[in-house]
Amino acid sequence: MAQVLQPDGQGIATAAALLAAGELVAFPTETVYGLGADARNDTAVAKVFEAKGRPSFNPLIVHVADRAEIDAIAELPTEADALLAQGWPSGLTLVAKLRSDAGISPLVTAGLATVALRVPGSGIARDLLRAFGGPVAAPSANPSGRVSPTLAEHVTRGLGDRIAAVLDGGLTPAGLESTILIFPGPTLLREGAYPAPDTWPRQTQSETPPAPGQLLSHYAPNAAVRLNAVEKRPGEWHIGFGEVAGDVSLSRTGDLVEAAARLFVLLHEADANGITALAVAPIPDIGLGRAINDRLRRAAAPRG
Ligand code: TXA
Ligand code: MG
Repeated sequence: MAQVLQPDGQGIATAAALLAAGELVAFPTETVYGLGADARNDTAVAKVFEAKGRPSFNPLIVHVADRAEIDAIAELPTEADALLAQGWPSGLTLVAKLRSDAGISPLVTAGLATVALRVPGSGIARDLLRAFGGPVAAPSANPSGRVSPTLAEHVTRGLGDRIAAVLDGGLTPAGLESTILIFPGPTLLREGAYPAPDTWPRQTQSETPPAPGQLLSHYAPNAAVRLNAVEKRPGEWHIGFGEVAGDVSLSRTGDLVEAAARLFVLLHEADANGITALAVAPIPDIGLGRAINDRLRRAAAPRG
């Protein structure tokens, strides 16, 4: 069973040593928990795909501590500079051209000529990345196709017997995966924690490359999911929002930031409580609501 590490000096040092030894360590970011492996170590990266049951053609996000490390791995176009002028925005992942001398395992990028990169905003993630001193490939720390973890318990419940350790940083504040933007363009590949302006072009469903976050059935709890439910039907557990009270609520005040932070917590709670039918209140399709509705549509989609 995975060791649960506290995010203090000793826990960070243990986690960094496990990564250096090619082991898998889950850690909190400001979005969700990631399942980390040394991005330069083929065997370690292969273990990530095996632990998650993830199709190997789906590439991973590389996490680094700062911008200088980004430039050693990818060629960020100058159009990214304006976006990064104030530092790395919280909850944002950029996809750009991979440098030929980046030293990243080809398993990370699934052989693509591009690489997804992120500087996490969370202090614990940055401490770990600095202590480890190299790039960490990390998908969300859940079995493939299931709901992403926002608590260390979610990680141990889903993957506890397949990973070395989890750093316990409590609830991840944003609660949704990062927004993914690809250069040149830029084009939005995934709605997420960083609220993307309406003016940014969105990738349409049919385009490539294939990405698990873009698969129709994803983020799925065990229960069947019914959307836009103003009223509850017999046997359902009703998740409310704003004026729709529900059995529980994403946010009684209709606050989308609070709703994003609570969404995966409630979906995991439904699984833990053996719920078989879920109904979810309508969520306005604006700002973070777009990312929430994206996850809900995939949670409700017919299972493959
Ligand atoms: O918030 C997050 O993004 C979390 C934390 C741990 O960083 N990570 C996460 O990873 O959600 P994952 O693997 O669950 O989702 C990453 C998405 C996938 O849809 C993957 O296909 C896409 O990023 N991706 C990775 N590299 C790509 C690339 N070179 N081109 C296009 N999509 C890429
Ligand atoms: Mg994921």
